Amino acid sequence: MLFSRRSNSTVGLDVGASSIKLVKLDHGKNGFSVSAIGIRELPPEAIVADEFRDREAVIFNIQSLIDQTDPKIKDVVVSISGHGVITDKFVIDKKTGPEAEQAILFETEQRAPFDVDDVSLDYHVIKTDDEINKMEVLLVAARKEYLKMYLELIEDCGLRPVVVDSDAFAILNAYENNYDIDPAKVTALVNIGHDVTNITYMAEGLFKATRDVSSGTREIYTAIQREFRLNPELTQKAIKGEMSDTIDQDMLKATIISSTEELSSGIELAFSYFKSQTKLDRIDWIVLSGGGALVPYLPEYLQSKLGVPLELANPLRNIDYDPELFQYLQPEKIAPLLAVSVGLAMRKAR
Ligand SMILES: Nc1ncnc2c1ncn2[C@@H]1O[C@H](COP(=O)(O)OP(=O)(O)OP(=O)(O)O)[C@@H](O)[C@H]1O
Ligand SMILES: [Mg+2]
Repeated sequence: MLFSRRSNSTVGLDVGASSIKLVKLDHGKNGFSVSAIGIRELPPEAIVADEFRDREAVIFNIQSLIDQTDPKIKDVVVSISGHGVITDKFVIDKKTGPEAEQAILFETEQRAPFDVDDVSLDYHVIKTDDEINKMEVLLVAARKEYLKMYLELIEDCGLRPVVVDSDAFAILNAYENNYDIDPAKVTALVNIGHDVTNITYMAEGLFKATRDVSSGTREIYTAIQREFRLNPELTQKAIKGEMSDTIDQDMLKATIISSTEELSSGIELAFSYFKSQTKLDRIDWIVLSGGGALVPYLPEYLQSKLGVPLELANPLRNIDYDPELFQYLQPEKIAPLLAVSVGLAMRKAR
């Protein structure tokens, strides 16, 4: 007799402005393990901020990434971020069906700065506590046309988006599942992408707030390209620190630092806003993820500019994996890049 092993895995698909990241995690009794992983770079202008400028190229690259990693993948957990996206986490009385939807809609109305009629909601019950009859809900609300455009793109890749999450909550999920949380510390999880930087704050061991800053490493990319007169391919190599033999490192450092002003002041402003809105007057440390964590000189510079100790995130810290799966990628090096996709793949999608 054959025993069919019930598959209990989730695929996180992180479609970013510079690359697509895919992580498939098996959810086992003893924790998570990676069963597929892949990263595929996009042409430089295919996605700019939240806009798909070259839809065909994005679809082609998502499909190619699926073919390379695991062609059987159908169900994916995806995320959105940036303008017009509201995310929150809250606890309400345990309800199901239309009653739950009504209660969640009510909660959203309290939070949305725009008319909820224009908004699509997706929610996900993260935890239920039968003893006190409460449930914790993750809410993602986005403008209808934006969400529709995004989901149609995923469906046109032949995939089924089973959960729509947000980048900020994926980061939080990856963090909570990998680190022992010190309730005495005010933590800022900062995920620097190509166009967007997501900041998620934790204090007293709990989620406090989240904010997206519309700036990322694109300015650095453009400055390197201009300064060293490089084509897109070589610019990508330089920003990854892979051109240390061919370009002057002092000049690279100066170029990176001088093009980081918008990003660092964006983070600085977000930090002061957070401090003014909460009774907490400090941020004790930053856990840095996203491609920005891998740009040479950037983490050290941010640490000194912001005056906050900083550590690189390792979303694979508590996860089993076979390094062979990563092929040419070095897992311990590129881990910060996978924070969103790992956080998405940690969702229970059914
Ligand atoms: N080893 C690396 N691999 C990939 N990207 C890197 C690496 N080192 C530095 N980077 C830089 O990090 C940036 C990409 O970061 P990330 O993948 O987090 O962004 P994204 O998710 O594509 O964008 P966004 O979240 O803004 O839509 C790029 O500008 C890239 O050049
Ligand atoms: Mg990203």
